[in-house]
Amino acid sequence: MYLRRISLQNFRNHDQTSLEFRSRLIFFIGNNGEGKTNLLESISLLSYLKSFRESDENQLLKWDSPFTFVRAEFEAGGEDFVFEYGIEKSQFKRKKIKINGEVIKKVSDSVGYFRSVILSPPDIQIIEFGNVERRRFLDSFISSTNKYYLNQLIEYNRLLKQRNSALKRENIPEREIVIWNEPLIERDFEIRQIREQTVARLTSYFEKNLNLLSQGKDPFRITYKPNVSSKEEHRERLARNLRKDIAIGYTSCGNHRDEIPIGFEDKDLSSFGSQGQKRSAVIALKTASFQMILEDTGEAPVLLIDDIIRELDVKRREYFVNLISECGQAFFTTTDLEGIKDYIGSLEMDKEIFVVENGKVSRGKDV
Ligand SMILES: Nc1ncnc2c1ncn2[C@@H]1O[C@H](COP(=O)(O)OP(=O)(O)OP(=O)(O)O)[C@@H](O)[C@H]1O
Ligand SMILES: [Mg+2]
Repeated sequence: MYLRRISLQNFRNHDQTSLEFRSRLIFFIGNNGEGKTNLLESISLLSYLKSFRESDENQLLKWDSPFTFVRAEFEAGGEDFVFEYGIEKSQFKRKKIKINGEVIKKVSDSVGYFRSVILSPPDIQIIEFGNVERRRFLDSFISSTNKYYLNQLIEYNRLLKQRNSALKRENIPEREIVIWNEPLIERDFEIRQIREQTVARLTSYFEKNLNLLSQGKDPFRITYKPNVSSKEEHRERLARNLRKDIAIGYTSCGNHRDEIPIGFEDKDLSSFGSQGQKRSAVIALKTASFQMILEDTGEAPVLLIDDIIRELDVKRREYFVNLISECGQAFFTTTDLEGIKDYIGSLEMDKEIFVVENGKVSRGKDV
């Protein structure tokens, strides 16, 4: 993967930013609040079709602006692509995506073109906050390359919402609730299978990575504990829980309750992990997702690294250097180039530096 150009219009604090990249290693430098992370956010949008730190798309529009527009030119698998992404301000979230000039009718049809992995400080929440964040990570990781999964997930969530709103209605006949059961069971089954296979592969990379990072001291693994384990069990529990579901106005079983423990045996890192162990786990996890995409597509995804290098100790920095040298292209943000100079100095790759100041970006001097 290689991002050649990106231009932003009214994206967060960027009025008009047009950048051309000629290197594999790109740095965005600037003080706090100048618009560095905003740049990574606009790049990761091309892969995930939503922001990694914001659920309300309207927040991506520059304040008081009626629209935002991102245009990117990149190379994937030896082919050139133009990806255009526009959001208009409206209650209905008018989003429009074009690939090579053609309007994409279904948003899920635009996944998998631009592949990237982002590492940013809030990733620690995947370890600290438990299952909600872990399901969110897993769903967004799988969906970024698997359109079938994304569609199943969208459909499952739509059906779940319908069933839950039926459960909340007064005196509703039971048949108007149970009508949602079979379609939910079908989607749940498809989602479970893909989650299961993905976690099994992810953990084998994760364990190897962690082993390297901690020299064998932290033998943690990722497991997948689906809330229901078969269609039959799902059917039986939906029937058995019907009274309870009506009482609480919510569907109490299904993949929205799946658990993804990270740790060992019955202990989870969220409860016993030290800061360093949690940080290593995040790096091992994100690296695992990078390695899986590389294996599946034969091409390294773009790495987006938001201000985390300085937090790392020597061992983890070395580990990162290795990762980046097998990487197609990596984008970093930092407030302090001096602070990471030793580290980047060891990379024998062309570097490019951009200075970000109040939403304006200019080319900086080489280091
Ligand atoms: N929708 C928006 N419209 C205009 N400005 C915005 C919008 N959203 C955020 N901002 C501004 O963007 C800036 C934050 O940008 P960003 O998060 O990229 O900073 P940063 O350079 O990464 O800083 P740090 O080093 O602190 O992480 C802030 O000044 C914020 O006020
Ligand atoms: Mg930032």
